[in-house]
Amino acid sequence: MALQKKIACIGAGYVGGPTMAVIAKKCPDCLITIVDINQERIKSWNSETLPVYEPGLNEIVKEVRGKNLFFSTEVEKAVLENDILFIAVNTPTKDYGVGKNMAADLQYWEIIARQIRKVAQSDKIIVEKSTLPVKTAEAMETILNTGSTIHFEVLSNPEFLAEGSAIRDLLEPDRVLIGSRETASGQKARNELVEIYRAWVPEDKIITTNTFSSELSKLVSNAFLAQRVSSINAISAVCEATGADVHEVAKAVGADSRIGNKFLNASVGFGGSCFRKDIYNLVYICRMYHLPEIATYFENIINLNNYQQQRFVDNVIKSMFNTVAGRKICIFGCAFKANTNDVRDSPALTVARTLMSEKANLVISDPKALENMKSELGDPKNVQFIEDPYQAAKDSHAILIITEWELYGKLDYQTLYDSMIKPAYLFDGRNIINRKSCYDIGFNVYSIGKESLIH
Ligand code: UDX
Ligand code: ADP
Repeated sequence: MALQKKIACIGAGYVGGPTMAVIAKKCPDCLITIVDINQERIKSWNSETLPVYEPGLNEIVKEVRGKNLFFSTEVEKAVLENDILFIAVNTPTKDYGVGKNMAADLQYWEIIARQIRKVAQSDKIIVEKSTLPVKTAEAMETILNTGSTIHFEVLSNPEFLAEGSAIRDLLEPDRVLIGSRETASGQKARNELVEIYRAWVPEDKIITTNTFSSELSKLVSNAFLAQRVSSINAISAVCEATGADVHEVAKAVGADSRIGNKFLNASVGFGGSCFRKDIYNLVYICRMYHLPEIATYFENIINLNNYQQQRFVDNVIKSMFNTVAGRKICIFGCAFKANTNDVRDSPALTVARTLMSEKANLVISDPKALENMKSELGDPKNVQFIEDPYQAAKDSHAILIITEWELYGKLDYQTLYDSMIKPAYLFDGRNIINRKSCYDIGFNVYSIGKESLIH
């Protein structure tokens, strides 16, 4: 059946952009407008260089832009003219007042709710895409519907896309989750959204729940994923202390089908815009509902992650005889993971800031994320940004691998070694190099969760 839906998405970021591009591709009869208050971002979405790097995204945007996908800064026009409004704005953690550093800052959401209410002249379905605390849909509905002659139905439809694989995750999702109220109007709105996803997602992968379950499931999914990373990272410290190998342990443990072998790569710590924020969100909710033991349980996932990042950089400093001042140290990778240009909450920030406070001279290298890293660090004096890894590592004392970009596993480490100051150190925060051969070349090799190889 041909669909004819008029859809707008408010927020043209990492979530809104890719999600709407895929819906536009799969539903050619839907007319989609993505709006954002950030003019630069919209300009960039309308150019050859998109503001978000995602494998496969360029191709899809090229295919649908100007046909049934449009980018604009006219937020009010989009609200007025469309029936389904996806909200994909950022929901940062509050940095002030009650719930500081923990609760989600919902001021942007509230601004949008009030803007929609002011402008709308016909019934709308509002789809929560951003990750939000449980019961946000209810709050939004209250703001929208109280005293209004127009009906607003708010659905929860959390995104589960991971950066770097966003397009694949959208094209072949493990599940699509849609939460709604169990009223007739709630079900009708839900069916409209189901109809959109059914254009390419098998029916058994579309899960419908009540709104609160949907909102909570999103936070719980990210908490469980982050918990796995913190668990294996905790074990990496035990491995380093005992001579066990974290890779071997993960393989043995993950072979149990009840545990599974995914998401067990020990690392310098997790980053990204979601894990920390969503867990704090969950912790805050637990505290609000007087569940302090549960709050502490989940908060420890983050405490362990902070510990792991600090442990990595402290080990760098300790191994280099506690003096990195004035020494050139090269960081390979600053994106929070491979295949993205995103540096939000990247472990590279903790590592770089600690080394900067120790007065080291840093050279940061990355194939995609240097611009974002520069603006995050503020382009300080003793930090250089050089994309070419060979040039970046020249005359340095140490290489620190922070992001698991494939290219860093394939470099000619002999050439790198030859260009560095001796003794040359190699700290692999992602376990992607051939550590034995790097040791044979002459490097002192330090890997997460493995015994160090020191000359
Ligand atoms: C995550 C969720 O996976 C996604 O479903 C949700 O919608 C948004 O949050 P994302 O933050 O993009 O996605 O990346 P993810 O692949 O989950 O990785 C998060 C962090 O954990 C990265 O820093 C990654 O390097 C790290 N990680 C992941 C590990 O250190 N080890 C692992 O085994 C897996
Ligand atoms: P995410 O990773 O959740 O997509 P981003 O920060 O990448 O987060 O994107 C969110 C986008 O939402 C930003 O481009 C921001 O400018 C936009 N935004 C925030 N508030 C509003 C608003 N009131 N109207 C339109 N766009 C908004």
